[in-house]
Amino acid sequence: MMNANARTGASMAAIQRHYDLSNDFYRLWLDTSMVYSGGLWRDDDTLDQAQARKLEHHIAAAHADRAARVLDIGCGWGALLSRLVGEHQVQQAVGLTLSKAQYEHVLAYGGPNVEVRLEPWETHEPIQPYDAIISIGAFEHFTGTEFTDSEKVEAYRRFFRKCQSMLCADGRLSLQTFAYGNTRSRADALTKASTRFLAESIFPETDPPRLANIADAIEGSFELIEMHNDRLGYAKTCKAWLDNLMAHRAEAVILVGEETYLRYERYLSYSYIGFKSGSLDLYRLTLQRLPPKRTASEG
Ligand SMILES: C[S@@+](CC[C@H](N)C(=O)[O-])C[C@H]1O[C@@H](n2cnc3c(N)ncnc32)[C@H](O)[C@@H]1O
Repeated sequence: MMNANARTGASMAAIQRHYDLSNDFYRLWLDTSMVYSGGLWRDDDTLDQAQARKLEHHIAAAHADRAARVLDIGCGWGALLSRLVGEHQVQQAVGLTLSKAQYEHVLAYGGPNVEVRLEPWETHEPIQPYDAIISIGAFEHFTGTEFTDSEKVEAYRRFFRKCQSMLCADGRLSLQTFAYGNTRSRADALTKASTRFLAESIFPETDPPRLANIADAIEGSFELIEMHNDRLGYAKTCKAWLDNLMAHRAEAVILVGEETYLRYERYLSYSYIGFKSGSLDLYRLTLQRLPPKRTASEG
């Protein structure tokens, strides 16, 4: 049971302020499948290839290939769902999003084996357990700047316990999130002012975790199998997005106005600097579900 006073992360209204801005605007600078998270780059990859490689990483890590049922928490515009039911013959891929624009997009293009829901993970009740869960770039929204460290851990713990309860016995969770880094240059590189700008003007009611928060929060629900920090991959992604945005400035201004265009240019520049300097990290974690602890009454 969820504590009625427990803090939750970004509200539906806050998520929609960001993601429901304009699908056409995001289409101008994201890759062609509209993936909105750090790519996994090799050699001379294009942005499209790096995003496809990242999705493949999570599908392999979660053992989702040919699975019966897979859940994507924070499904964006549905690229992972399409790949799961297409290339990987998953029988049913369920996606959760809080964005109406994303929900309607996936509803229109997802196809028969995709189910999309305008619903937070907190209230999702699966009809049967999932074989695998993948969550890419949503975890950052699960707490806000007003959370204390222990409130953050508590909120993340609730998320991991919920995933544990939704997975079958040997199920895996493949999680990607950015996080505050711990390099010495943090204070210089991503100043408090830029952190405030991102929280107030780009991602309201949102604050990323620290590595220690995640380590604390998985206790008792998941075993860590593998973890990578690919912050330079996210820096490269932000640079590609920024280059695309600047190359389409005139169209972007027509779609969202000059002020919003400049705000996004600033956001992508700060994010690039943050990941490049180590003020921000990008974690990909492979997590194996643990059996829930028995209560005393169960013996
Ligand atoms: C940065 S986008 C990432 C989308 C996609 N995974 C990708 O990589 O392109 C974050 C996603 O998380 C979703 N999200 C945020 N908070 C959520 C919550 N509490 N429950 C479900 N989805 C949530 C948003 O609606 C959005 O689809």
